[in-house]
Amino acid sequence: MKSINPKTNLLEHSEAKIALYGRYLSVYFNILHRAGFVKRIFVFDLFCGEGLYENNVKGSPIIALESISRHYFSNNNSIPDMTVWFNDNGISEIEDGVYKVDRVEKVGKNIFKPSNVKVEYHKENYEDIYPKAIDLVSQTRDAKGLFFIDPFGYKAIKPDDIRRMLENGKTEVFLWLPIAHMYRFADSALRSDFPGSEPLKLFLNELFGKSIPSFQSAYDFIEQLKGRFRASLKDLRIFVDTFTIERDASNIYCLFFFTGNIRGYEKVLEAKWSVDPSHGKGHTIEKTLSLFDETELSGYHDKLWSFLESTEYRTNTELHLFGLENGFLPKHTNAVLKKNKSKFEVVGLDNKPVRGYYIEYNSERRVAFRLAK
Ligand SMILES: C[S@@+](CC[C@H](N)C(=O)[O-])C[C@H]1O[C@@H](n2cnc3c(N)ncnc32)[C@H](O)[C@@H]1O
Repeated sequence: MKSINPKTNLLEHSEAKIALYGRYLSVYFNILHRAGFVKRIFVFDLFCGEGLYENNVKGSPIIALESISRHYFSNNNSIPDMTVWFNDNGISEIEDGVYKVDRVEKVGKNIFKPSNVKVEYHKENYEDIYPKAIDLVSQTRDAKGLFFIDPFGYKAIKPDDIRRMLENGKTEVFLWLPIAHMYRFADSALRSDFPGSEPLKLFLNELFGKSIPSFQSAYDFIEQLKGRFRASLKDLRIFVDTFTIERDASNIYCLFFFTGNIRGYEKVLEAKWSVDPSHGKGHTIEKTLSLFDETELSGYHDKLWSFLESTEYRTNTELHLFGLENGFLPKHTNAVLKKNKSKFEVVGLDNKPVRGYYIEYNSERRVAFRLAK
């Protein structure tokens, strides 16, 4: 069988990546458009690739442009002002002597673009362009921005870059990492030097400092990275979650999603749980992952319960946030509460009758959950 070149054809796992991005963009545009106060949206796709692949599959820039035009037409021909950057420093693997980003521009020209949407094409190194993108969104009043970081590897990426992108409180980041590859070399890179080990070592040292744990599996590696990202971004009030795509044991990609926007975060969790209703972990191509059969909710049950028990009472807002911070939706928190309903009482803090748990975004109700004595 002829093997397919992953550089000239977008493979199934990459398609799943891009599909998730497309879904999120439409939610993102909707939320920001309805919010009213956002005067400009920035989208920075800094490793944008070829645009269109040999197998005719659309890459991230095309998906973004289509998402923009769809939003415009389904919202009475309107969309907030927008600036979109497509960047890639590579030469095409499909067309001789042409930059990838020039191919993106050629295809992009044929997609309808509202007049208040500005699209720029760049051929810079990621390292040089991302600080400029941060400055631009930081200096623009009432702006919001989304960084889409989809490198083949991880060599160019430092955890501190992600922090810098998020510091202005206006941005969200989608970061894809090739987990199987990183996990395979993680232990050896930390314990001894070998050619090429330096970037991975720097990446892990930056996240874990001196106390680098050992990793039991690629999935444990993801959980530990996520935990460190969460801890290191807590002061910025950033939610972090992951979404995993596994093609086979040596091809595991993980999306790390960073946002301070609770509504957007909840939407990503919804998308994730809808793709994988029993675990909310991600998309397993060929369903090879029977390893993770026990439902993750059982772990959440204990976690939520300790959170409730650790103080006199918890409010509905606290429980809603606690679920999200741990990657669970209001329906999961509700399910755990229902299962244990004889063990606590719900008290209104706003002098209104209590008829539920009110675990939801922006609930107008204030209730407290108190353990039964
Ligand atoms: C996984 S591909 C991106 C795929 C793209 N998101 C899509 O949907 O088609 C990674 C891209 O990053 C580019 N690249 C790698 N290192 C880079 C760097 N340091 N600066 C800018 N672009 C880089 C490569 O040329 C390659 O096209």
